[in-house]
Amino acid sequence: MNQRDTGPDSAAVLERVDSEREGQIEALIDYLRIPSISTDPSYAAEVRRCAVHLRDLMTSIGLESEIVDTDGHPLVYAEHCRAEGKPTVLFYGHYDVQPPDPLDQWRNPPFEPTVEDGRIVARGATDDKGQSLAHVMAVARLLEERGELPVNVKFLIEGEEESSGEAIETYVRGDGASRLACDCVVVSDSSMFARGIPSILYGLKGLLYVEIRVQGPDRDLHSGSFGGAVRNPAQALADLVSGLRDPSSGEILIPGFYDAVRPLEQWERDEFARLPYDEEAYAADLGIGELWGERGYSTYERTWARPTCDVNGIWGGYQGPGAKTIIPAAAGAKVSMRLVPDQDPDEIAEALQRHLQQTCPSGVRCEMQVLGRARPVLVDTGGREAEAAQDALEDVWGRRPVRVREGGSIPIVGTFAEALDVPVLLIGFGLSDDRLHSPNEKFEIENYLQGIRATVRFLDRLGAA
Ligand code: BES
Ligand code: MN
Ligand code: MN
Repeated sequence: MNQRDTGPDSAAVLERVDSEREGQIEALIDYLRIPSISTDPSYAAEVRRCAVHLRDLMTSIGLESEIVDTDGHPLVYAEHCRAEGKPTVLFYGHYDVQPPDPLDQWRNPPFEPTVEDGRIVARGATDDKGQSLAHVMAVARLLEERGELPVNVKFLIEGEEESSGEAIETYVRGDGASRLACDCVVVSDSSMFARGIPSILYGLKGLLYVEIRVQGPDRDLHSGSFGGAVRNPAQALADLVSGLRDPSSGEILIPGFYDAVRPLEQWERDEFARLPYDEEAYAADLGIGELWGERGYSTYERTWARPTCDVNGIWGGYQGPGAKTIIPAAAGAKVSMRLVPDQDPDEIAEALQRHLQQTCPSGVRCEMQVLGRARPVLVDTGGREAEAAQDALEDVWGRRPVRVREGGSIPIVGTFAEALDVPVLLIGFGLSDDRLHSPNEKFEIENYLQGIRATVRFLDRLGAA
């Protein structure tokens, strides 16, 4: 009684997923060997080579695939739309990766993937080559087994996610708009709440990323001869940066910053509070003694639903070994703000610009340049597509997914929800210790395989719904 509906039969395809284990791992390793670092212009040819590699792979499994040239790095588009009358799923992912620095902290070179202890270690392993390849592999296995798919599928894989490129935005709103028509978008570019606990996200943060420069004298000066007579740009920068946040309450002090922030709803606070949480383990995993954040909020509330402000890099003056007595000519910092609904990155940029001009000390010049922006999103997790996704996750993990938010950003998601006006399903297969953007990034082979299996089940369930 009350038996769970097991849905359509995917057994033969899932057996293939198991028997093709090595081939699937090899495919990921080949993909990870290409250093598709989108933010560094000197890697542009490698980024393109990666796009071509992916297109060829998708063609080889039976999709119609092409490179879409843009003003920035190319997009890869592929489709298999022969399931008449069935829904259409658009899979999104990114084939570009973060820079691997600091290189000396990698146990093995970042683009020479190694398999250690059930994990694939390489830059991009989880973020996002491994996760997005899981979708491709699922489609490959379905086509091999049956020669057809239960639904129509489209793929749009970009090469500028990690570098805030706007090529995909232009495409989705312009030339690509009609061909991208679909019933839902599936994105696997996030993490599970915890090992063994499948998750579906309903929120991502937005982002404003800026570089701040403080310019003083036209050259570095002897700090004895001139010290005391001129404003020190490094000190001025430090004052500016520390003025962004109240050091005890954690509150961000830019006027207007919180105006559009949607408060956490009570049901969210209740649901977050019910999730497993071990503060000591959390801190210990990061090698710190205690956590710190905005007063009055829990860790999940802070990371998922409250806006934040962080220095991502800071420089100025002499950085070499030993002492060098100078007043630096200039100093700078990279600062990012994670935004929540309904903050608008453009409005926050203006507020910050105004605040910097007002607080910039005399005797130096302060400049700000925007390096990236993304809108925050909340997505709907109702509807039959989301239902099929949750059932598929339950099929492979043996438990119902939790519904959570995340602090990371995937800039195009807001555009999908708005311009395509369809549900966006955010289903990640990563783990929080996968070291995204850090040295020794890894993807667990079991999560990769589960991602493939879940995608098979999702497509079968959606086709049968
Ligand atoms: N995949 C991440 C975003 C992410 C990570 C979402 C973990 C949820 C959980 C994505 O590749 C990423 O790193 N995005 C950047 C966006 C930025 C460069 C515009 C980010 O969040 O820093
Ligand atoms: Mn990613
Ligand atoms: Mn990333």
